[in-house]
Amino acid sequence: MIKTAVYPGSFDPITYGHINIIERGMKLFDKIIIAISYNQSDKKSFFSIEERVSIIKKIFKNEKRIAVEPFKGLLVDYVKSKNAEIVLRGLRTVADFEFELQMSLANKKMNSKLETIFMMTEGKYSFLSSSIIKEILSLGGSVRDLVPDVVVEKFNERLRERKTDIVSWE
Ligand code: COA
Repeated sequence: MIKTAVYPGSFDPITYGHINIIERGMKLFDKIIIAISYNQSDKKSFFSIEERVSIIKKIFKNEKRIAVEPFKGLLVDYVKSKNAEIVLRGLRTVADFEFELQMSLANKKMNSKLETIFMMTEGKYSFLSSSIIKEILSLGGSVRDLVPDVVVEKFNERLRERKTDIVSWE
């Protein structure tokens, strides 16, 4: 039986912290579906869903056992639609635990077959978040060793587009 795990998140953008979980997850599962959520109303995204899919597909272009898809609605419904029963999540610090526990219990309530597997994020990435990356990049700092180059390229591309938009309105 093929063991498929769904690794969900907003990935706005993906970081080496996420990639670390995915690469280690590949040792445990036959297939990982990176499921990118359309952001909920309280979380405004920098990258569009199409950009996030395209960035992650580029990063894993040589990895046949990884699929990348956007998803809308409840995670439990999405996981079921993929005939999967495992959700993979990373824990960075103890601060993540409460939210993750709540989410995994809520998901379990909705689908008792669903199991959430947690992996500790490697220590060197435990401070990392997508927001931190966006903040450093927007203020001209270096994110070397924190995100793949494609993320930096796309980020700068989007910033240039936005500046052009502003100029054209003047
Ligand atoms: N390395 C680096 N950063 C990490 C990380 C890791 N291993 N794991 C998480 N993060 C960061 C993310 O970059 C993100 O940063 P940000 O807040 O600055 O954007 C932050 O931690 C939170 O990430 P995550 O916990 O993955 O939350 P999310 O908002 O990206 O995704 C969903 C949450 C999509 C899994 C969840 O909202 C969901 O399942 N939604 C679907 C609707 C649903 O079913 N709701 C009911 C759930 S009970």
